[in-house]
Amino acid sequence: MHPMTSNGVVNESVFLRACRGEDVPHTPVWFMRQAGRSLPEYRKLREGTAMLEACRTPDLVCEITLQPVRRHGVDAAIFFSDIVVPLAAVGVGVDIVPGTGPVVAEPIRTAAQVEQLRDLTYDDVDYVAEAIRLLLAELGGTPLIGFAGAPFTLASYLVEGGPSKNHARTKALMYGAPDVWHALCSRLATITSQFLNVQIEAGVAAVQLFDSWAGALSLADYERFVAPHSAAVLSSVQDKGVPRIHFGVGTAHLLGAMAEAGADVVGVDWRTPLSRAADLVGGRPVQGNLDPCALLAPEVVLAEEVRRVLTDGASASGGHIFNLGHGVLPETDPGALTRTVELVHEHSARRAT
Ligand code: CP3
Repeated sequence: MHPMTSNGVVNESVFLRACRGEDVPHTPVWFMRQAGRSLPEYRKLREGTAMLEACRTPDLVCEITLQPVRRHGVDAAIFFSDIVVPLAAVGVGVDIVPGTGPVVAEPIRTAAQVEQLRDLTYDDVDYVAEAIRLLLAELGGTPLIGFAGAPFTLASYLVEGGPSKNHARTKALMYGAPDVWHALCSRLATITSQFLNVQIEAGVAAVQLFDSWAGALSLADYERFVAPHSAAVLSSVQDKGVPRIHFGVGTAHLLGAMAEAGADVVGVDWRTPLSRAADLVGGRPVQGNLDPCALLAPEVVLAEEVRRVLTDGASASGGHIFNLGHGVLPETDPGALTRTVELVHEHSARRAT
C-alpha cells in the first residue's frame, strides 16, 4: 500500500521510483557496504561479537542497519548481513575472518559434496525475518534493500575455500567438471532464491544480487556457466513487486548479459561511464558508480567527482541511482559519505513537474 498525499498523488520513495525508471525529485543515493566498518558507532557495537553471530542477532542487525541511515540521510537502507549467511544457515562450515573475509573449512569440489548442500527453510534464517520486521517498524519511509550473493560469487568462496584473486580452482572446476559445476551453481541458485524470498516475504522493498567477482569471466563463459543460474535466482523473485538490482565489479563486457539475466536495475563499477552502461543494459536504470577511493580525496576533488557521476548519470536513458562502484572502504571518513549524500541531493534537485 502506498501512502497518498492530500491531492491523491502516490508519495512513494524516491529510490523505488528511480528503480522503476520513473521521474524523481532528486537522484537517490545509498552506498554498498554503508552499514559497517567505516562507522565508529558500528565498531563499538560489534566489539566482542563475531561477524556471523552479529548477523544472527536481530537487535544488533536492526541497529547496525539504521546507523548509516541516521548519520548520512541516505535514500535506502541495506540489510546488515553477509553473502555467506545462507550458506552457514544450511550447515556449510564457513566463518568470516576479520581482515580476510569468508573462509570455508572444507572447500567444495566434488559431486558428493555438492549433493550434501540442502535447501534453506524459513526456520534456518528466522532471525533474518525477525530483524527485517524490527527494521520496518523503525525505518519509516526509507526503503530496505535485501540482498544475496549470486551463484558464481558464492561458488568462488566455496571452491577456493576463501577469497581469491584469479578464481583459478573455481574456473578449473568449471572447465574440468562442468557437470559438478552446474550442479553446484544450481544448488546455490535454489538456496539463494529461498533466502531472497524469505527477505521479500518479511518485507524488504528491493533486492540486490551481488555477483562481485563475475567480472573475472569472459562473456562466453559467463553466458554458458553462470548466467542461467543467476537468471534462475532473478526469475524466482520476479513479479513480487520488488525491484531487482544486479551488480558486479569489472563487468563492462557483461553488462548486457547481466541485464538480460533478469535485472530491473544494473549496478556498474567506476570503470564504465554510466551513459555507456545505460546503452548496454537496454535503457534500464543504472546504479553507481563513484570510485570508492574518491571518498579518500580532498573535498573539492570529491565534489568534482560526484558532479561528474551525476552529469553522466543524467544522460543515462533509463535513470540513475547514485552509489559507489563497489563497497565503502573501511578507512573512509564517514564525513565524506555524509557530504556525498548532501552533494547528490543538492546537485540533482529538480523542480516538481
Ligand atoms: O552495508 C552493507 O552493504 C550491508 C552489509 C554487507 C556485508 N557484506 C557486511 C560485512 C554486505 C552487502 C556484504 C556483501 C558481501 N560480503 C559481498 C558482496 C559485496 C562486495 O563487497 O563485493 C562479498 C564479496 C562478501 C564477502 C565478504 N564478507 C568480504 C570480502 C568481507 C570483508 C573482509 C574484511 O574483513 O576485509 C566480508 C566481511 C564483512 N561483511 C564485514 C562486513 C561489515 C566486515 C566484518 C567486520 O566488520 O568484522
